[in-house]
Amino acid sequence: MKFYVPPQIPRLALAFGLFITLFLVLRHFLVPDTFGKYGHYRAASLIDNTLPEIHYAGQQACFVCHQDIEDKKAQDVHSDIHCETCHGPGEKHVVNSKVEKILKPTGREFCGSCHALNAAKLKSAIFQIDLYKHNIGKNCIECHNPHQPWEMKK
Ligand code: HEC
Ligand code: HEC
Ligand code: HEC
Ligand code: HEC
Repeated sequence: MKFYVPPQIPRLALAFGLFITLFLVLRHFLVPDTFGKYGHYRAASLIDNTLPEIHYAGQQACFVCHQDIEDKKAQDVHSDIHCETCHGPGEKHVVNSKVEKILKPTGREFCGSCHALNAAKLKSAIFQIDLYKHNIGKNCIECHNPHQPWEMKK
């Protein structure tokens, strides 16, 4: 008994063979060098990820020198707001506090960025004041201590 091999089979086999070879060749050139060294990713990406400059230090770093301020903040409504939320990125200041200044926010607009009346914000989520009515003409921090808002300045 003789097998009948349809004529398209050898041609298909050849086409498959060509595609697989082409795939292997392309793969060889396109896969980055360090791919798969540790797992299904490019090992060199670990190094790439350590290169961007660090901007934020995290507030634990601030406590080392400014524990007095943290003690105040911890007692009042701003306790959950981390230092750098208001003072901006502090890594440079932490590393070199004598030379590198850090932002010291001022002005009604700054406090207003969280507290200004806004119909889209729940009143129960954050207290809001009307910037155009609440003690106008004065800076918020003339009365409220930013680190302890209910300890009013006299
Ligand atoms: C190694 C100690 C040290 C660390 C850590 C540190 N500071 Fe300071 N900070 C200082 C010193 C010293 C000054 C006073 C510098 C001056 O008066 O020029 C200062 C001043 C400041 C001022 C006042 C700036 C001004 O213009 O009056 C702010 C605000 C401040 N620090 C916030 C922070 C925050 C936020 C962090 C954490 C991200 C931090 N500091 C971490 C030592 C430190
Ligand atoms: C809600 C925003 C806010 C947060 C949170 C905050 N600060 Fe401040 N901070 C201010 C403002 C506003 C001033 C300027 C006060 C002034 O000029 O009287 C200030 C002033 C300071 C000063 C200058 C000295 C002083 O007492 O006025 C230091 C130092 C400081 N902050 C450190 C910190 C540290 C450290 C933290 C975290 C523990 C922190 N701040 C958290 C808003 C904030
Ligand atoms: C990053 C957002 C943010 C900024 C900026 C901010 N606050 Fe607040 N503030 C809060 C949150 C959150 C609370 C706690 C929730 C609440 O009670 O509104 C709070 C609470 C308060 C309260 C108490 C409200 C109450 O009735 O219990 C006062 C007063 C206050 N902040 C004043 C200020 C002043 C003054 C500034 C500017 C120096 C300021 N805040 C900047 C987020 C912020
Ligand atoms: C002249 C002093 C003074 C100034 C300036 C001032 N406040 Fe007040 N603030 C008060 C007093 C007193 C209260 C409590 C009585 C009241 O609600 O008016 C208060 C209440 C608040 C409350 C709580 C409102 C509530 O419904 O419980 C917030 C939030 C607040 N202030 C934020 C600010 C912000 C933000 C600024 C700057 C835009 C500011 N304050 C400026 C004196 C001041």
